Amino acid sequence: MERRDKLLSWLHEAQERSGRNYLDPKDLAAAGKRFGLTGAELRGVASYYSMYSLKPRGRHLIRVCDSPVCRMLGSAGVLEALGGALGIDGEGTDAEGRFTLETCQCLGHCASAPVVAVDGTVHADSGPDGIRSVLASLREADESSSTLGGGGRGD
Ligand code: FES
Repeated sequence: MERRDKLLSWLHEAQERSGRNYLDPKDLAAAGKRFGLTGAELRGVASYYSMYSLKPRGRHLIRVCDSPVCRMLGSAGVLEALGGALGIDGEGTDAEGRFTLETCQCLGHCASAPVVAVDGTVHADSGPDGIRSVLASLREADESSSTLGGGGRGD
């Protein structure tokens, strides 16, 4: 049985392998055997941490900080601008399953608010000017998706 202090990193890797940024039931079952945990315990862990999802998401994950500092410095406008660029109304996944746009709690870069994370890479100062670097990162992510034929297991 694997040491439980390795569970979170194992779940991160499983989520990345899924190609849809989520923990599928097969991975949870495998984690249960590996770490000696029940399905309910694993779902508890997965639902406690906002970086995990039990539902399929886009291959690329864009998280807009919605905590007070970022909110005061324009995160709602950033969310709206990104939604407009991606064809997503508010939070959700685009029709092609490429991008999921969601809000999140503090990303730990409050001094550079508003902050956006694209596939885990933090983009600070993502105001009207900084949004260009976020969009450039999204285009790069989109091209890598196309080049790789979508990646993941196709769930
Ligand atoms: S409030 Fe947004 S990074 Fe802390």
